[in-house]
Amino acid sequence: MRIDVLTIFPEMFTCFLSTSIIKRAIEAGVLTVHLVDIRDYSQDKHRRVDDYPFGGGPGMIMRPEPIFLAVEALLEEGESRPPIILLTPQGEVFNQEMAKELATYPRLILICGHYEGVDERVRQFLATREISIGDYVLTGGELPAMVIIDAVARLLPGVLGDPQGAWEDSFTMGLLEYPQYTRPRDFRGLKVPEVLLSGNHEEIRRWRRREALRRTWQRRPDLLRKAQLTPEDEALLEEIIREGKPG
Ligand SMILES: C[S@@+](CC[C@H](N)C(=O)[O-])C[C@H]1O[C@@H](n2cnc3c(N)ncnc32)[C@H](O)[C@@H]1O
Repeated sequence: MRIDVLTIFPEMFTCFLSTSIIKRAIEAGVLTVHLVDIRDYSQDKHRRVDDYPFGGGPGMIMRPEPIFLAVEALLEEGESRPPIILLTPQGEVFNQEMAKELATYPRLILICGHYEGVDERVRQFLATREISIGDYVLTGGELPAMVIIDAVARLLPGVLGDPQGAWEDSFTMGLLEYPQYTRPRDFRGLKVPEVLLSGNHEEIRRWRRREALRRTWQRRPDLLRKAQLTPEDEALLEEIIREGKPG
């Protein structure tokens, strides 16, 4: 997959792209991240990309021309038209479903805003989609772009050592993930649940499913209303609700 990122701060991505799983994905050729400095498309001799808002008001607005020119140059490089995503707190809120959907495209273009935001014509006539990473306002779209790249990259085939991991994660199955433990078995008297040491795969599966249901019921009942539950899940959930034990 290729992801083109339009930004005025490409250096913010250096550490992110050269660390851990994202680094490996790039080295393996599964992911290519192409950073485009929007200033390279500025028609201003000082490479300025922002200007005062018409009508007055605080802050600066990113001008439309450098962003249009940068995207148009990128589109010349490919045959099909990739989603052109504007990062904005006003967009649809990013979630795991969206990450799965975005991971199916061969290419994405991400536009990072800055200052007070981006000229409205970019949203109206260039972007094909607007994504927010949550109901809070950041100083720029770079962190949101990294969040999206990270969430999408780990779903690409060959990126995670054990692809099963991505399928059992919170949200992927419509539930929060079950509790996880590693060594030591006994840490300061705090013991790992016996069932996980039993070697009985069926019992472990059932325990994990039950704990995933319990966690979701306790913390995110809204997810349970949308999850596709099997008859076994329904029975487990009834038990959990009867027990009513806080986690
Ligand atoms: C300070 S924000 C501008 C906010 C804008 N004035 C508003 O109220 O919608 C600057 C840039 O950061 C990015 N940004 C900030 N918060 C974001 C969020 N929650 N999700 C995605 N992008 C965000 C956007 O690219 C935005 O153009």
